[in-house]
Amino acid sequence: MAGTFVVGGAGVISAVVAYLFPPSEANSGLTRQAVKAGQAEDIPPGRGKLAAVDGEPVWVLNSPSGFVALSALCTHKGCVVKWDEKRRVFNCPCHEGLFDERGNVIAGLPRRPLVPFRVGVVHGELHVSRGEAGKV
Ligand code: FES
Repeated sequence: MAGTFVVGGAGVISAVVAYLFPPSEANSGLTRQAVKAGQAEDIPPGRGKLAAVDGEPVWVLNSPSGFVALSALCTHKGCVVKWDEKRRVFNCPCHEGLFDERGNVIAGLPRRPLVPFRVGVVHGELHVSRGEAGKV
């Protein structure tokens, strides 16, 4: 009974704190502000680089069809996927999930593709933000 009050009380307190001190726009996940992820020329064709967008790891990949940005969080249980240059797949070390370079599921337990992010090149610099894949 006391534990229920403590847990319920903590929920009320955190709701009040969130109301009084809303998270900054940059951390809320609601912003479409782009994060600079480095120079495009530093990622050769077939290579990828991890960037952080609103605290989330995102792979920026130089694919044959141009730059692609995908969440690095596996859609099965949230492990960070790794880019395998030789096999040209993202692999998840937790349960061997496999995704192609567009983030589509190839094999394993994941049922949903990797979440796409927007990516674009502005004056030679990569800009990545939340939203549908495409230009920033
Ligand atoms: S967390 Fe990636 S396959 Fe399970």
